[in-house]
Amino acid sequence: MNPAAEVRTDQAAGAPGMSAPSPAVGGPPALEVRGVSLRFGGLQALDDVGFQVAPGERLGLIGPNGAGKTTCLRVIAGVFAPDRGRICLAGQSIDGLPPHRRVGAGLAMTNQIVRPLRSMSIAENVALAWGHRRAGGLLRAFVRAERGPALARARELLARVGIADYADGPASGVPLGVLKRLEVARALALEPRVVLFDEPLAGLNSIEATRLADLIASLTDDGLTVVLVEHNLREVVRVCDRLVVLESGRVLAEGAPATVMRIPEVIAAYVGEEVADARGA
Ligand SMILES: Nc1ncnc2c1ncn2[C@@H]1O[C@H](COP(=O)(O)OP(=O)(O)OP(=O)(O)O)[C@@H](O)[C@H]1O
Ligand SMILES: [Mg+2]
Repeated sequence: MNPAAEVRTDQAAGAPGMSAPSPAVGGPPALEVRGVSLRFGGLQALDDVGFQVAPGERLGLIGPNGAGKTTCLRVIAGVFAPDRGRICLAGQSIDGLPPHRRVGAGLAMTNQIVRPLRSMSIAENVALAWGHRRAGGLLRAFVRAERGPALARARELLARVGIADYADGPASGVPLGVLKRLEVARALALEPRVVLFDEPLAGLNSIEATRLADLIASLTDDGLTVVLVEHNLREVVRVCDRLVVLESGRVLAEGAPATVMRIPEVIAAYVGEEVADARGA
């Protein structure tokens, strides 16, 4: 059986959970990854990976450790150049563009390890990201007239992600849940159309993870498109419209979360228990 083909058929028929518009009907996809391959020495980290994300869709990109999820996000963000393949944002090729030009084109990526500038306040950290995008440079971003508007926008974004109370405090010594929300605010400060999240829920307890997943899911209400790499399958299944499963650098399956989680090859790729847990079994 070819699980990917099977689930794609489901999806075309309008599987439950597909709340986002189909790329074929609603204009170009917000993000398209086509035939992407990347080799690290002897390791084929990505092997002909392709998928599309519709505008306003929440796509979960999952797979076991070492499957190539982070590598795929980094290729999209322009950190790694693929050996082969194409990346399009809203129908426009971004191949060959350096990471900052991709940010300018509407792409933001969050990192699993949040590293704020600890000598600055939480608001200043967000203001820096906003100013960087606006003023096109770190120094210009943070001197003179840019500082006021940047801090005002930072406060709005901190309120949006639910940590307004921390705005003027230092970025050091705050709980992990606050740091994670700061990372979301910094990504939003780049005024993206597509946000790539790399394991944002890692390290959080289940209540915090659910709340952060709700926040990430709510970003599509603001017109954003979300790609969520996560090992917390329960939350991915709960908040995503569609899943793409990577294994050993290849797309193993794609489709509606509940359908994908029942594919034997997907269950086998994981420990099994995790999948059963996500299905509420
Ligand atoms: N810069 C690099 N140089 C060499 N090999 C790398 C590099 N980055 C990743 N790899 C390898 O590529 C493979 C895919 O790694 P990647 O980090 O993309 O996996 P992942 O799906 O994100 O895994 P995890 O769930 O553990 O984060 C792994 O075997 C990894 O060791
Ligand atoms: Mg990873």
